[in-house]
Order: sequence, then C-alpha cells, then structure tokens
Amino acid sequence: MFAIDSARRLSFNRCISHGDLVIVYERHDNMKAVKVCESSVLQNRFGVFKHSDWIGKSFGSKVFSNKGGFVYLLAPTPELWTLVLSHRTQILYIADISFLIMYLEVIPGCLVLESGTGSGSLTNSLARAVAPTGQVYTFDFHEQRAASARDDFEKTGLSSLITVGVRDIQGVGFPDEYSGLADAVSLDLPQPWLAIPSAAKMLKQDGTLCSFSPCVEQVQRSCETLQTSFTDIRTFEILLRTYEVREGKMDSCQGVDGGSNASLPFKRKKCSDGSNVLSSSIPPVVMARPCSEARGHTGYLTFARLRCIS
Ligand SMILES: C[S@@+](CC[C@H](N)C(=O)[O-])C[C@H]1O[C@@H](n2cnc3c(N)ncnc32)[C@H](O)[C@@H]1O
Repeated sequence: MFAIDSARRLSFNRCISHGDLVIVYERHDNMKAVKVCESSVLQNRFGVFKHSDWIGKSFGSKVFSNKGGFVYLLAPTPELWTLVLSHRTQILYIADISFLIMYLEVIPGCLVLESGTGSGSLTNSLARAVAPTGQVYTFDFHEQRAASARDDFEKTGLSSLITVGVRDIQGVGFPDEYSGLADAVSLDLPQPWLAIPSAAKMLKQDGTLCSFSPCVEQVQRSCETLQTSFTDIRTFEILLRTYEVREGKMDSCQGVDGGSNASLPFKRKKCSDGSNVLSSSIPPVVMARPCSEARGHTGYLTFARLRCIS
C-alpha cells in the first residue's frame, strides 16, 4: 500500500503491516494480490507461508515457506496492480497507460477527469501521476462498478487522490463544478463523441484530451466531433513486442555474419527458426525471443488539445 505522509509524498519505504496489500510474486506471469492478515497463511505449490512472517519486512523481501520455497512480496504499484486486478471490464494495459499519461502531460498537481472508471486500471496510474497535490475525478454510470473501484483504491492506498462519481457522462456530461478547471480529460467510453463537448467545457485553455476506442469507426466519429473545438488531433495505436529472456543452449544458432560464437560475446545472432538471439556469453547464453502470446491490438488512443480562444 502507498504511504502518503504528512507532506503528501507517496512512498513504499516502510515495512509491511497487518492490513497491507502486497503483490505475491512467483514470476512475471504468476502474481497475485494478497491482503496481509496476521492470522492467515498463503498456500501454493511451494508450501505454506505464514503472513505473520511477512509483518515487519520491507516491500521487495524474499520470504520462505515451511518447505523452503520462496516468493517475493512486492508493493502494489499501479504497474503491478494492472496485472493482478479483477477484470470487471476491459482494461487499459501498461503500454497504452504510459503513453497516455505522457501525451496528456499529466504531472503532479494536475486535475484530471476520467470516464468510465471501469476496473480502475488507468485511474491508479493517473492518481500516482498527479500525486501528491493533484486529484483525479473519475465517473462511471454503473453503480456497482464505481463502488468496487472505490474499494480497490482504498486497498492500493490511492483513495485520497481519487474521487469516484456515479454519472452518465455520455448523457449529461461532466459536472459543471469542474468547468474550465481540468488539465486533462481521459475518455474510455463506447460513444466518446457524446462526451467530447462536455470535456471541452471542462478543460483549461490548452488542456489535453485522450479518447481510447477499440474500433476505428469510433475513432472517426470522435475525430469529427473534436474538430469543433480541438486542435492537434492525433491517433496512435500502441503495438508492444515483448521478448522473453532466458538462458539456453546455442546449438541451433550461428553468428549472423558467419563468425564463430566465441568471437561474438554480446552480438545479435540469427537462429535456424528465424528468431533473433542476444548472446551475452558462451556458454551459457542469454536468449531473448519474442513471446508467442504477446497482446496485439488493444485500441486506438486519440489525443487533442483544446483550441485557444484568444
Ligand atoms: C472499458 S471500461 C473502462 C476501463 C478503464 N479505462 C480501465 O482501465 O479499467 C468502460 C466503462 O465505461 C462505463 N460507461 C459506459 N457508458 C458510460 C456512460 N454513459 N457514462 C459513464 N460511464 C459509462 C462502463 O460502465 C465501463 O465501466
């Protein structure tokens, strides 16, 4: 859990306590969020882990089971939380989130409006980006989803930076009280063009908007609406290529330039199956291969800047 101290700084530099949320990390594709409870245990294929052994340890600690197996106890950063949260809706993932936060110019102190909240995947990252003095106001018309998101923000320790509202943003727009105050607006809605006029009203001069849509037809309609009061309209599709890095043998590989393996201690080599290999030493070699199950298209991110009137 994030600790927000009296100076409203976010920090994980403290020890794990009863009631904290930790990410139990086995490997990059096997993690889960666990609430620490003094009298509980975690049981997995490595044995039984007593939560009481975790209390007082720093985030990042390696802890051992009754059988000598181990896991790491990581802090629930927005990056890790995105990978373990319960999916109540489609969510945004790290590649889209990081690009969105950079392109929207979200920095500490910003006021950001968001709709829909969904599973809160994006909201956590927005909140950390505006901390310690900013605020994220996020809206979803689905009451139960909004309530679950509120619970999650309590668990991740970011609730003081996030206000969750229940509201039909496509129908009635954002609340008038934020008119002209928002540094950025983020939309992940089925018909974002219905919310764009209200978003324009909420933004400060020079404020930025992002709309995430999975289909290009939605992007086209949004862009048409954006032309009215926005400038610098740009759409991106973020395609991520993940490589799995592991140690292995080089028998079926040879240097691309035909040189001997021993003369290429840090070079890219071509394998017989066409994949690229990064060799760091021979033997053993560390190989990086594209993951076969890497996620492809998630959606389109359309950005625009409010046109200055004067
Ligand atoms: C795909 S989810 C958003 C996921 C979110 N970006 C995340 O990363 O977890 C879309 C959300 O929009 C909400 N929604 C749909 N129409 C809405 C409307 N008119 N007003 C407010 N929220 C709406 C849905 O209830 C749903 O939770």
